Amino acid sequence: MSERPNVLVTRPIMDAPLAALRARCDVTVHENVSGIPREELLEVVAGRDAVITMLTERVDGEFLSAAGPSLKVVANHAVGFDNIDVPACTAAGVLATNTPDVLTETTADTAFALLLAASRRLGEGERLLRTRRPWIWGPLMLLGQDVHHKTLGIVGFGRIGRAVARRGRGFGMRILYSNRGPISPEAEAESGAERRELPELLEEADFVSIHTNLTPDTRHLFDAAAFARMKRTAVLVNTSRGPVVDEAALADALENGEIFAAGLDVFEREPQVEPRLLALENVVMIPHLGSATVDTRDAMGLLAVENVFAALDRRRPPTLLNPEAL
Ligand code: DGY
Repeated sequence: MSERPNVLVTRPIMDAPLAALRARCDVTVHENVSGIPREELLEVVAGRDAVITMLTERVDGEFLSAAGPSLKVVANHAVGFDNIDVPACTAAGVLATNTPDVLTETTADTAFALLLAASRRLGEGERLLRTRRPWIWGPLMLLGQDVHHKTLGIVGFGRIGRAVARRGRGFGMRILYSNRGPISPEAEAESGAERRELPELLEEADFVSIHTNLTPDTRHLFDAAAFARMKRTAVLVNTSRGPVVDEAALADALENGEIFAAGLDVFEREPQVEPRLLALENVVMIPHLGSATVDTRDAMGLLAVENVFAALDRRRPPTLLNPEAL
């Protein structure tokens, strides 16, 4: 019988991390790119030493019981870990890890790309050309909102939020932030941002970019009341988690002109997208591509593998979520 650890990877990952993993473990990769059905996941996880999970797999008591006592680590291939019941992992003596830091700048780039695309109506312009209908330059054509020197409000001022603030400063923007916990005076000074309570931020900001974790407290943080506070010229960007925004309320706000536009990377019922949003011109949507670059996906995979190796060697994984389980 093989002495090599037995690892499940729930979706194809980049070659370099996979090769590193295969060099010392027996690895099963679930190749179906549309995701592993829950019943199959509960079957194939049985008896594994480690699992590399995606944000699409729920890791809960049922998953942990199905895996059984051999499981030492669940290494999430994402910074967000709302799919993982961390206390349940701790109770089962299973280490849980994520992939922070390595995707910060890439995700901030995506947020800023959406901010620019939504405010300058780039999606509409592109769709117009693709219709192949005749067009001619005109002074009133597809007028957007300026970005430079406007006010950017960042909700959730962690690593990615602060990276978006740096980009905003490059555009001469004034930066406001709201955050549940305190942030260090050094981080605040370095960011050049001013703290606001969320309602005030929504009223003052021309652009609102969401970077908060999904928790029971932040689910539908952006609801009809939040949109009612925002400027009619405001643009909302979400690269965090879809359920932070009430999508039906967002569709209402966009349809009624309560806000100018939205740029969305994430959706409330992913991979489903609210059909009313699909029908609107003033929303730019991409399919959860926040960290989707070659370099960053390599780095995320390598960090997940490093976390697996550390757990198998009984060392502390570099980005451990539940040190109490050590
Ligand atoms: C994450 O890491 O949480 C992103 O949503 C996917 O990269």
